[in-house]
Amino acid sequence: MEEYIYKGKQTQFHRLKIAKKKELTKNTFSLEFEIPEHLKENFKFEAGQFVSVRFKAEGEYVIRDYSMTSAPYEHKITLAIKINSPQAVAAQLSENYREGDLLWVSEPAGRFTLISKPSEFRTIVGFAAGIGITPVLSHFKNILHNEPRTRLYLFFGNKSSEGLIFRDELDRLAEEYNNRLQIFYFYSREKAANSFFHGRLDDKKLSLIINQILHLDDTDEESTIWDAVDEVLICGKGEMIRTLANACYHHGIPKKNIHFELFEAFNDDIYPVEKEFPLIENVKVEFNLLGTAYDTLLPDNKEKILQQLLIQKFPVPYSCKSGICGSCECILEEGEVELLENEYLTEKEEINGHILACMSIAKSRKIKLNFDLS
Ligand SMILES: Cc1cc2nc3c(=O)[nH]c(=O)nc-3n(C[C@H](O)[C@H](O)[C@H](O)COP(=O)(O)OP(=O)(O)OC[C@H]3O[C@@H](n4cnc5c(N)ncnc54)[C@H](O)[C@@H]3O)c2cc1C
Ligand code: FES
Repeated sequence: MEEYIYKGKQTQFHRLKIAKKKELTKNTFSLEFEIPEHLKENFKFEAGQFVSVRFKAEGEYVIRDYSMTSAPYEHKITLAIKINSPQAVAAQLSENYREGDLLWVSEPAGRFTLISKPSEFRTIVGFAAGIGITPVLSHFKNILHNEPRTRLYLFFGNKSSEGLIFRDELDRLAEEYNNRLQIFYFYSREKAANSFFHGRLDDKKLSLIINQILHLDDTDEESTIWDAVDEVLICGKGEMIRTLANACYHHGIPKKNIHFELFEAFNDDIYPVEKEFPLIENVKVEFNLLGTAYDTLLPDNKEKILQQLLIQKFPVPYSCKSGICGSCECILEEGEVELLENEYLTEKEEINGHILACMSIAKSRKIKLNFDLS
């Protein structure tokens, strides 16, 4: 085991052997790791979680996060990795590492998870775009396996049918669980036989889906399938998440039941900020990070605290910048902030003074933060 600083936190990594490596499409490959007996407990995970992989690219070590595509009951860690361009570091991961090689892998983390409810009749809808299918696939396999009464609908968007990953596995699942799982494929750059399935997954498409696919409910004549939706899972680009999360909310799904995972920094709010805050100028900010004390003056409180610290080039930890990943979690030790809606913190953490710097607006002239949580 080794510890490395990743996203501002001391993170434990273990050396795992690549048990299987497979090409999935022209620019996507999968890795499965062998988990030695003594690390089995460390690598237990929940559907929707991810691991961070440390590997060499152009002679330097880099770390990237990848969601599990396997479900917990499969007792293995499998990832699917997209090579966005020949220059992307994932291309080096693909080129430089073979079956039998060792990689540094962190213990599973992440909160894109659901509470399992094996005895309930639930309706769960998933929206995934491209490589965003990875955590949704893990969830869907897990729910099909653990919740015999839950029905699932997957809306999977891709540019074209050519680059679509997991088509065989998804179709096999839809066949095996044909009374509980329905999958619909959408293509943005390929004409589909039915124009309904052409285009991106967005608010307009959601309205059509609600009216034409999730309408009549065989199990309840008085309601529609959409009315029965308990949880929504969304994974894709930030813009898609924002559009669909807001559209689901406006179509009646409570925000606490809309879950999303973002693979990249988004720099924007998922839900619009409706409140206005009194202007404060010259906000003094002190913070501790990895044992070092920093202090600075923010010109005002018009922007969120993390974003302002980043403009001033402080090495503060972040990933999504939109309240989803938890990388910027810290404790508010002094002062007052407005913590905007976020997907990450629990009520208990908020009561204990935890905030997300990327979703916090200063409400006092002096703020003291501690990023060293443990
Ligand atoms: C929770 C989570 C789960 C993810 N799951 C998957 C998955 O299942 N499959 C998949 O293919 N991708 C996944 N990603 C995205 C993946 O981690 C990479 O960010 C993405 O693939 C970018 O590819 P690259 O690094 O090869 O490209 P590059 O072109 O090398 O990088 C693209 C840009 O992203 C920046 N960047 C991205 N991540 C980091 C980081 N950790 N540290 C520093 N800079 C970074 C780079 O600096 C660069 O600007 C996930 C990301 C997160 C946060
Ligand atoms: S950077 Fe992701 S929650 Fe703040």
